[in-house]
Amino acid sequence: MEVFHKIVDIQNELAEVRKNGKKIGLVPTMGALHDGHASLIKTSVAENDVTVVSVFVNPTQFNDKNDLKNYPRNLEADGRLINNCGADYIFAPSVDEIYPEPDTRHFEYPPVSTVMEGAHRPGHFNGVCQIVSRLFYITTPDVAYFGEKDWQQIAVVKAMVKDLNINVKISECPIIRDKDGLALSSRNSLLSTDERAIAPTIYKTLVASIDFAKNHTVQETHDYVVENINSVNGLKVEYFSIVDGLTLQDVATWDTTPYVVGCITVYCGKKPIRLIDHIKYKEQ
Ligand code: PAJ
Repeated sequence: MEVFHKIVDIQNELAEVRKNGKKIGLVPTMGALHDGHASLIKTSVAENDVTVVSVFVNPTQFNDKNDLKNYPRNLEADGRLINNCGADYIFAPSVDEIYPEPDTRHFEYPPVSTVMEGAHRPGHFNGVCQIVSRLFYITTPDVAYFGEKDWQQIAVVKAMVKDLNINVKISECPIIRDKDGLALSSRNSLLSTDERAIAPTIYKTLVASIDFAKNHTVQETHDYVVENINSVNGLKVEYFSIVDGLTLQDVATWDTTPYVVGCITVYCGKKPIRLIDHIKYKEQ
């Protein structure tokens, strides 16, 4: 496995790989890697000749300066995990390498980019598109792997790929959870012991709401989830949206569309740490 910090170096390496007709898989990450990232990397290794994992805490997608400052960073441990998964290259550039000048491009893909995370984290998806488009131009992957943990991110990246006519397949990977159901996240390492103990309530409540939904309306199910999570001291729901899984627009009834997903963001603890999760009520 090789580590590259400079754009020109990874471009030269991958030009050779391409010349030899090899298929390239890309796994974009912000580091602080865990088993969720590992599952994406292993899938790419299994499906491609060469796998590139990018590790870059992208400042333009953080709308909160403290969140950016506190974001966990550990390239050494990440390197070990990436190597153990069998990837070939790490691309870990500096901020100046990626953004020698401020990125003035503006990406907006309504309706998928403007709801939920788009509404609560202004500029977030613009920053995601800025970095993901650059990573696609730099590494020219055949396939890029994204986790369903960030449900809306996949929809936005797909809209961007279509808009920019980028020749890459977006592969969606299932969410990986801890034994107690908590969705794995780099931010989980920032939770105190007490906070970590209450965080699984989020997924437990989402799972319980599947049964509840069988004989209640969308609005009643929404309220059930929000009230149950908010009843735990230390948890506060920012939003819970029951939406069409593709358009991400609110559904009025369970029969509005064939694909219904509940997306939630919860603040946990005093700092607080922002956790996201989702549950599928109806699959395609
Ligand atoms: P990051 O949060 O590091 O996540 C990198 C990828 O890993 C994303 O596609 C995310 O959905 C996936 N992932 C994270 N936790 C997961 C879990 N528990 N199960 C399955 N997949 C999981 O998402 C980003 O970084 C950034 O926005 C990025 C796309 C790299 C652009 O900066």
